[in-house]
Amino acid sequence: MQLKCGTYAHPEGSDAQDAETQKKRDVLANDVFIRRTEWAGHLAGMASEEMDTPYQIAGQHPRGKYLLVFDPLDGSSNIDVNMTVGSIFSVLRSPKELEDMPREQQRDVVEADFLQAGSTQVAAGYALYGPSTMLVLTVGTGVHGFTLDPTLGEFMLTHPAMQVPADTQEFAINASNARFWEAPVKRYVDECLAGKPGPRGKDFNMRWIASMVAEAHRILMRGGVFLYPRDTKDASKPGRLRLLYEANPIGMVMEQAGGRASTGEKPMLDVQPSSLHQRIGLVFGSRNEVERIERYHAEPVQTNLHNPLFAERSLFRD
Ligand code: AHG
Ligand code: MN
Ligand code: MN
Repeated sequence: MQLKCGTYAHPEGSDAQDAETQKKRDVLANDVFIRRTEWAGHLAGMASEEMDTPYQIAGQHPRGKYLLVFDPLDGSSNIDVNMTVGSIFSVLRSPKELEDMPREQQRDVVEADFLQAGSTQVAAGYALYGPSTMLVLTVGTGVHGFTLDPTLGEFMLTHPAMQVPADTQEFAINASNARFWEAPVKRYVDECLAGKPGPRGKDFNMRWIASMVAEAHRILMRGGVFLYPRDTKDASKPGRLRLLYEANPIGMVMEQAGGRASTGEKPMLDVQPSSLHQRIGLVFGSRNEVERIERYHAEPVQTNLHNPLFAERSLFRD
C-alpha cells in the first residue's frame, strides 16, 4: 500500500532480529491500523512509531475529533520465534480549532497537535497476540480485558476492572545493559538480586521477554515492575522506548489499574512531549515498587553503597 502522507521510518525494511530495525511485519501492521480506522470518521489524523511524519486522513473520508497514536507491533523482534507480541494505541483529542472547522477548511494535522501530555489521553490500550488474543482497554474508568472468541469473531469481556497488585517480588529489566545504568537503577536491581539476606529481606524473581506489551500484560495480571530506564549506552537516546507510542498508553493503563508509571523521576503522564518520536526512561507496574524506584532517584547518590550505616535497613533510613 502506498501512503499518501506519513512516510515510513526505515523504508528499506528487514527481517533482522535487532529490535530497533523496522521489520516487514511492522510495515504490514501499520497498514492494517490505517486501513481499519481511516474511513470511520472518528479521526483527524494519526501518528505511528513506524512513520516519520503524521498521517493525513484521505480526502474522501470524513474527519473526526480524535488523534490515533500507535505502535503497530510491539516486540516485533520476537515474531520470527513465535513469542507474544502486541499493538499499543493511544487516543487524544485533536486541537479545538480543528474540531470546530468544516471538513473542507481543516488544515492537515502537524506534529505539534500530537505533543500532548499523557494525562490528556481519552483512551489507551493494547491488543495482545498470545496463546489467546486479547484487547485491554481503558477509557479513563478502570481497565477492562476482552478475549477474542475465534468461533464468534467477537471480543468477550473476560477481565473486568483489572487491578495491578501494589506489591511484587518480580522485576523485568534487560540486565545486559547493567553497566550503562544510572546509580538508582543499579541500587534497586542489586537490592532485588540480594534476595532474602539483602536489604529487601525477600527473594525476587526476574523475567524479560523483550516484548514490552507482553510484560505489561503479565504485570497487569499478577503484579511486577518493568524498567527500561534512561542509561548511558547511547548519548543520543534518552531511553529506549517511545513516550507517545509506548510509555503514555501503557502508563495510562497502569495508572487506571491502580499501578504506577514513571520516568523514574516524575509521573510519566505529566511529561510534556517535545517531539513525535521522543524516547524516555520508563518504569511501571506495582505501585509500591515504582514509588521505591522514584525514591531512589530522588535521594542523593550514595558514594559508598556498601557502608552498612547507609544500607536500606539502618539508622539512616526509614
Ligand atoms: P518495538 O518492537 O516496537 O521496536 O519495541 C521493542 C521494545 C520493547 O517491546 C521491548 O521491551 C524492548 O524493545 C526490547 O529491548 P531489548 O532489545 O533491549 O531487549
Ligand atoms: Mn514498541
Ligand atoms: Mn513497534
